[in-house]
Amino acid sequence: MSFLAVLQASQLVTLAGPKRPRVGAELSEIGIIRDGGMLIRDGKIDMIGPSDEIEKESGGAEIVDAGGRVVLPGFVDAHTHLVFAGNRLDDFERRARGETYAQIAKAGGGIWSTVEKTRAASDVDLFAQAKKHTEWFLRCGTTTAEAKSGYGLTTEHELKILRIMRRLNKETPLEIVPTFLGAHAVSREMRADEYVDLVTNEMLPRVAQEKLAEFCDVFCEGGYFEIEQSRRILSVAKKLGLKLRGHVDQLSNCGGARLMAELGATTADHLEKTDELGIVALKSRNVQPVLLPGSVYALGSTSYPRAREMIETGLAVVLATDFNPGSSPTPSMSMILSLACTQLKMSPAEAITAATINAAYSLNRGNKIGSLERGKLANFSVFDCEDYREPAYWFGIPSMHSVYVRGRRVLLRADEN
Ligand code: NIG
Ligand code: FE
Repeated sequence: MSFLAVLQASQLVTLAGPKRPRVGAELSEIGIIRDGGMLIRDGKIDMIGPSDEIEKESGGAEIVDAGGRVVLPGFVDAHTHLVFAGNRLDDFERRARGETYAQIAKAGGGIWSTVEKTRAASDVDLFAQAKKHTEWFLRCGTTTAEAKSGYGLTTEHELKILRIMRRLNKETPLEIVPTFLGAHAVSREMRADEYVDLVTNEMLPRVAQEKLAEFCDVFCEGGYFEIEQSRRILSVAKKLGLKLRGHVDQLSNCGGARLMAELGATTADHLEKTDELGIVALKSRNVQPVLLPGSVYALGSTSYPRAREMIETGLAVVLATDFNPGSSPTPSMSMILSLACTQLKMSPAEAITAATINAAYSLNRGNKIGSLERGKLANFSVFDCEDYREPAYWFGIPSMHSVYVRGRRVLLRADEN
């Protein structure tokens, strides 16, 4: 039996609160315990409170001295494309010269170029690169990440990517929540309708039968999957027992948010172009918006989603990295917190709530992770700062001291090794 006592956190940010996603003013209530501590037994939080009280109960425990630093729950990244081969440095350079995402995709870059590299990679190489990505996430304080397939676009390659996620889940400390995104782009080898048939008649039944994914996602956008095609795919997924997420209204306001509400999706992601009607539709079914300011930033756009309106409407907003080689090559949730504060006009507390407990609920794991409360997994990070607002404020500086998953340290700052 393992027994750990974390002592002397300048601020232990618990995110304790109601057993549901946080809305409105609740997003600002992050439950700070000053000079806090916690007891951890067998990877779960057993007691949490002022450090001196925890210390009295810590006989026989291994002591973790937080040394006057901030402790936060492990970040929960609810939108990533973690498994892919190679990079998109050429797209990056072309964008710097002024070409758009759509122009680059047409000229041979974009999602399809990553599909080609991912298909060509051996299982060993693809696993090794994805494992490296999991290490990046952990180093940034993320202890759970949703991960989407979508760089295979054949049954064989989509299943291969989902199996790699299953292996990563067993062999790395990062918890991965798998999402099937066979409808990420239309395979160049077939017509759009043929490809939608392949996704619905062959891929989805296999994914469901082998329990390879918990969610199904679609890139709903002109030139990718139209509303009607997206509806077909997601309806089949729902019948097969998968829950729904969607890339919607990223490049155009094409009714994606309304579709996600109609289908009762768990989340609607991106929403850069969603208007007030779309926001009202999301509220009507309490679909959680997953905002991805990293992709707006990295695409060189200024079209950030309307976070404030969403919060005022009562939506349980989530923030995520959208880690992928094309539109958002960052695993850093601290960077996303910075963008949320500077561009989405969220407060640091709101941003932290959106990146922890609300994200956990959006992955159906709100009862297990996302906050530091008795009975929850001891997934937490120690930041090299004294105030919880600092990780969002000091941008571009690594501020992580150490990271713990289920009470086990998975990262320690290099100079303390
Ligand atoms: O979330 N929008 C579609 N999918 C990704 C980009 C993937 C890529 O460019 O490789 C996104 O932005
Ligand atoms: Fe994405």
